[in-house]
Amino acid sequence: MFVNANVMPWILKMVEINNSKNNNESAGAMIYSVHCAVCHGTEREGDPTGTYPDLRKVSAKFSNKEILALINNGKRFMPSFKQLKQDEKEAIIAFLNGSESRQVSASVRQDTNLPVVPYTHTGYNRFLDKEGYPAVKPPWGTLSAIDLNKGIILWQVPLGEYPELTARGIPQTGTENYGGPVVTAGGIVFIGASKDEYLRAFDKDTGKELWKYKLPAGGYATPSVYEAGGKQYIVIACGGGKMGTKSGDSYVAFALKK
Ligand code: HEC
Repeated sequence: MFVNANVMPWILKMVEINNSKNNNESAGAMIYSVHCAVCHGTEREGDPTGTYPDLRKVSAKFSNKEILALINNGKRFMPSFKQLKQDEKEAIIAFLNGSESRQVSASVRQDTNLPVVPYTHTGYNRFLDKEGYPAVKPPWGTLSAIDLNKGIILWQVPLGEYPELTARGIPQTGTENYGGPVVTAGGIVFIGASKDEYLRAFDKDTGKELWKYKLPAGGYATPSVYEAGGKQYIVIACGGGKMGTKSGDSYVAFALKK
């Protein structure tokens, strides 16, 4: 089995939320803390890499109608919250743009059937050192070949590189990575996934890196292998956008030599 892995500490902190029905707090804030805070932060601050947007000034960016559409439809990995009642959606929007009225808020609170969840967490925060690298010893990302019959790791290599660390003479650290590998019948393991936006090929038996290619944006997806017109191809979706890297919208395909 060929598998990539992250060695990446995260800090998730539990915090109490006040969502009892009978207090005077904003209904929008209560619904926000139950449904939205895990991604957008307890203070609407978003996360530092920009994966989850800061919502503190969202009303300057979107109309109420546009925010409602986002709540109903979701977007990329924001899920849809269609199931909320109309007055609950309006309460969140009013909370976000600071126009929530006390009176409306009290009635929404009475009306809501929100689950009583006493805690939320402060979001998915990476534990980083002061330069912004994972605050643990490398490797931070690996690719391994595991012999499942024997239960042993046959080889393991760092996956991904920070060129600026390599330039400082630091052995390849690997990077955080998302998206899996594929292996061809010819014995080559292909994987993108790394934060440095490369697609790489490794020898299936030794783990030696055979080739790499800089993609137009991060290939945070598992490549696919296919055949067309008697030729073998490999294709990967280059959506980018994670871990603070640029977004993209291309699929890149390569033909393999016979
Ligand atoms: C699972 C994580 C997650 C949850 C839960 C979530 N969101 Fe989001 N939200 C996102 C992501 C990711 C984006 C960015 C989408 C994009 O543009 O790619 C986003 C974008 C938004 C935006 C647009 C912000 C901008 O500047 O582009 C608004 C407004 C928003 N969310 C409101 C909400 C509200 C209100 C809730 C709760 C009802 C909520 N979100 C719950 C992940 C989440």
